[in-house]
Amino acid sequence: MNDYSEKRVWITGAGKGIGRALSKLMVKEGWVVAATSRTKEDLLSLVNECPLDTVIPFPLDVSNHKKTISTVRAIEKKLGQIDLVILNAGTHTPVPATNFSVEKIRNLMEINFMGVVHGLSEVIPKFIKQKRGHIVVVASLAGYRGLPSASAYGASKAAIINMCEALRPELLEHNVRLSLINPGFVETPLTDKNNFEMPFIISAEEAAKRILAGIGSKKFEIAFPKRLVFPMTLLKFLPDSLFFAFTKKMLK
Ligand SMILES: NC(=O)c1ccc[n+]([C@@H]2O[C@H](COP(=O)([O-])OP(=O)(O)OC[C@H]3O[C@@H](n4cnc5c(N)ncnc54)[C@H](OP(=O)(O)O)[C@@H]3O)[C@@H](O)[C@H]2O)c1
Repeated sequence: MNDYSEKRVWITGAGKGIGRALSKLMVKEGWVVAATSRTKEDLLSLVNECPLDTVIPFPLDVSNHKKTISTVRAIEKKLGQIDLVILNAGTHTPVPATNFSVEKIRNLMEINFMGVVHGLSEVIPKFIKQKRGHIVVVASLAGYRGLPSASAYGASKAAIINMCEALRPELLEHNVRLSLINPGFVETPLTDKNNFEMPFIISAEEAAKRILAGIGSKKFEIAFPKRLVFPMTLLKFLPDSLFFAFTKKMLK
């Protein structure tokens, strides 16, 4: 991880779960973290749990484009040039067919997908201009194929995966790296709400370690844990008849 002029990173969704664990890990590795989420108390407790001046809180709702622009400016004013950005903020709302809701889907897309788009719209032109930078986007293995009750969540993550695949070669032409993180189940406030079995679930600290190791590699996709990546990858190649036989079983 020595491609960066300074060890400064902007992490969205840093208040809880994966983003919080990653922030703490990166501080231990010598990084200064510009930490973003909506809940100020989460950011302040993160600041208090880390050494002085290693975490700088920037409260922000990533679904607000104008505020994202002003927040990125405020981060740069306070910390100077940022070479690494981790767009991790996201949430999950189940949307089953029996409760198909425009409002729920719009809200989820505004946070999970447009939240990433808003961040990208600020950093891509800067990174292209300075001819360096590394963008890391957190999607999910749930974006590989459509799974029951995840019509909104899966769609938001599939959109992110597709967008990152499209952008990666174009950005590389300008010496800008883009990495895609696809986690399986991770123990966080997000998954605490789930009332179904989550195979091969790992801790947020373990997820943070794998993300940081992945960021240091030259790989495009960082997917984990392997025990779940393998069957989820297989689903991509199953013929529809077998795939839908499998997802039908998930409904029971
Ligand atoms: N946990 C898993 O099993 C899992 C698996 C695959 C992918 N992921 C992805 O990993 C990322 C982190 O998930 P997590 O499990 O750590 O979730 P989490 O525990 O719910 O934490 C999400 C963080 O994002 C912030 N956030 C949510 N909406 C936001 C908004 N509109 N603007 C700014 N910040 C916002 C939350 O803070 P506020 O609510 O205070 O804003 C919180 O700090 C998400 O993109 C998620 O989809 C998670």
